[in-house]
Amino acid sequence: MFMAEPHSHKPARKQREMLPSIVVTDVIPPSVINAIERGSEGSHSLIASTGDRRPLAVLLNQPETQRVLGGAIGLSSLGLLFLDAFFLPEELRGRGLGTMLLREFEEEGRRRGCRWAFLYTISLPEFYAGNGWNVLGRTPCDEPGTFRVFMTKSLKPCSTEHQFRGGHILKTPRQRDFGIQQKKDQA
Ligand SMILES: CC(C)(COP(=O)(O)OP(=O)(O)OC[C@H]1O[C@@H](n2cnc3c(N)ncnc32)[C@H](O)[C@@H]1OP(=O)(O)O)[C@@H](O)C(=O)NCCC(=O)NCCS
Repeated sequence: MFMAEPHSHKPARKQREMLPSIVVTDVIPPSVINAIERGSEGSHSLIASTGDRRPLAVLLNQPETQRVLGGAIGLSSLGLLFLDAFFLPEELRGRGLGTMLLREFEEEGRRRGCRWAFLYTISLPEFYAGNGWNVLGRTPCDEPGTFRVFMTKSLKPCSTEHQFRGGHILKTPRQRDFGIQQKKDQA
């Protein structure tokens, strides 16, 4: 943790009495996250007339135990859907499950009224591009030759009944076969 006194031209004694200290830390209690997020939402709401930040998880559960095997997590806020993390164990990859989870994630964003989705990825721009995401730009990472690629997708309404991917039609009954459920837990 690092603490610093804000700069001021006022006399030093008055500064200690009046000004709060600045703290740099990697320990953030949930109460602090909540206070800052709510405060920030409040200032945006003045412009957008809505403070609607909601977490979103689309999970792949083991059918018998309901143990979480993988999934996509993020949040919706002010008409934007953010995909923050996406993971499937290796043995479940390459069967179209990732595509189905991503489509469910986007569809819930549409249900929440989001018009655009946003993510960044280091390793998988091709996967997202194949699912209709476009590159906004990229920044270099520490590892030479690697980049964070920032991507976005318009969330125009579409049906989940028939989803096209690589020439295959993925129908909702297959999602039930894989044990995909929709949980609408609120934060
Ligand atoms: C990203 C992930 C969830 C995708 O799940 P998946 O079930 O393997 O995806 P799908 O089977 O639906 O694959 C869809 C397409 O994406 C391609 N794809 C999947 N992983 C890829 C990769 N690492 N690089 C390039 N293409 C990839 C597949 O080849 C497939 O293309 P095709 O239809 O032309 O054959 C999974 O690969 C994963 O968990 N990866 C490790 C974690 C990770 O990198 N997360 C992303 C951080 S942003």
